[in-house]
Order: sequence, then C-alpha cells, then structure tokens
Amino acid sequence: MGPLPITISPSLLSADFARLAEEIRRVEDAGADWLHVDVMDGHFVPNLTIGPPVVKAIHGAARRPLDVHLMITNPLEYAERYADAGAHVLTFHIEVVGDAAEAREVIGAFRAAGIPRVGIALNPDTPVELLGELLGEIDLVLVMSVFPGFGGQAFRPEVLAKTRWLRDQGYEGHVEMDGGLDAETISSCAEAGADVLVSGSAVFRSEDLEGTITRFRELAEAARSRAGA
Ligand code: DX5
Ligand code: ZN
Repeated sequence: MGPLPITISPSLLSADFARLAEEIRRVEDAGADWLHVDVMDGHFVPNLTIGPPVVKAIHGAARRPLDVHLMITNPLEYAERYADAGAHVLTFHIEVVGDAAEAREVIGAFRAAGIPRVGIALNPDTPVELLGELLGEIDLVLVMSVFPGFGGQAFRPEVLAKTRWLRDQGYEGHVEMDGGLDAETISSCAEAGADVLVSGSAVFRSEDLEGTITRFRELAEAARSRAGA
C-alpha cells in the first residue's frame, strides 16, 4: 500500500461560531478535505466548546467528512450521540482510559455505533508506546502537538518523534497532527509521516483561505517526497 493522500482538516475552533454555516462553506470551497471539530467538556481540558446538537448542525451544513476530536473524560457514554450527530472520524484521548482493556471498550462502542473511522489521541507528554498493542485496532492516531484546550498555541517539535515511531512500527493507518500547524511547521509533520494535518488559526486567520490550504498541501507533499515516502 502506498502512503495515504495528504488530508487537510481545518479546525472549526478558529471559525466564527456565530456564522458557522458560512465558515464551513468558505473553508470547503477553499479545498478542505475534512472538517476538524473540537469537542471540549471543561473537565478533560479547561475549555468548553460544543456538543452533539451543534455537531449535528455542522453535519447538516457540511459536504465534507467530520473529523471529531473528543477532549472529554467519558467518551464511552457518548458513542451513540456522536455517531447520530454525523461523526465520520471519532477520536478519544488515551489519557481518559485506565488501560488497554478500557480503550478496547471505547473502540468497540464507537464501532458498534457505526463510526466509520476510530481514532486515539495522545497529549504531548503521553508516550506513544502505550498504543503498541492497540495499533492494529484503530484507523487513526492523533499526535497532539500542543496541550489540548485552545487554538493558537506554539507547535512542540519534540512530538514529531512519535509520528516517526508510528511509521517505523509499520503503522499504515492515518497519523494526524494537531496544534500549531502553519506554513513553518507543516512540512516537518509530513516529513515525519503524518498524513492528516489539522490547522485552526493559521487557516481561519488568513486573508486567502484557498491559497493557504493549497500551500499547506504543496508543502506537505513536497516534504513527504523529500522524505522518500
Ligand atoms: C486544540 C485543538 C486544536 C486547535 C488547533 O485543543 O485540538 O484542534 O483547534 O488550533 P491551531 O491550529 O490554532 O493550533
Ligand atoms: Zn483538535
């Protein structure tokens, strides 16, 4: 199998929440492949964003798959609700489960609810080796490149080693990176082996959305071919 195509997933966290449908249309017309949706519960992270009804409304307005990133302490209880809301990718944090058996329970609940792609996210200080025995059971690993909670933080280059480790293990699923991705940092993510690239502030703050997304894709593809992937 060749490498997965580069997927650009703009984070709606940096969109204007009062004009979400317009923002979705704008970023889709500019070339977004997926729409990254940040769900925060005020417990796992010190911020509170949106829940199932708003994800459902986003799904109604969107033409691209929803890449839903759950920063919540109890993903198991929400599998059905996010599946009903239209999540295509549903990712939970490994830090909220006690062990691999509990992680499997969440993975199983997401699949039973009909989620097409199940992901696990890792905070910057969580070792990737924890995922070892689970890698064969998930479609996506989200390597956080900032501590989750807020957009607009600086990229932490030390997490690139985790992306490399996943590819060195022969992991062929999606590797997503999220936090501080922009024209300066996106190449290093693709070079390390990431195929799904999330960007919030750098996309929505730009004057030229289409130019920015096109540039991100070009930078990522160039970096990947330099890396010989
Ligand atoms: C952070 C979120 C990210 C965030 C990225 O907790 O998970 O998805 O929106 O925003 P930027 O690209 O601005 O770092
Ligand atoms: Zn996110």
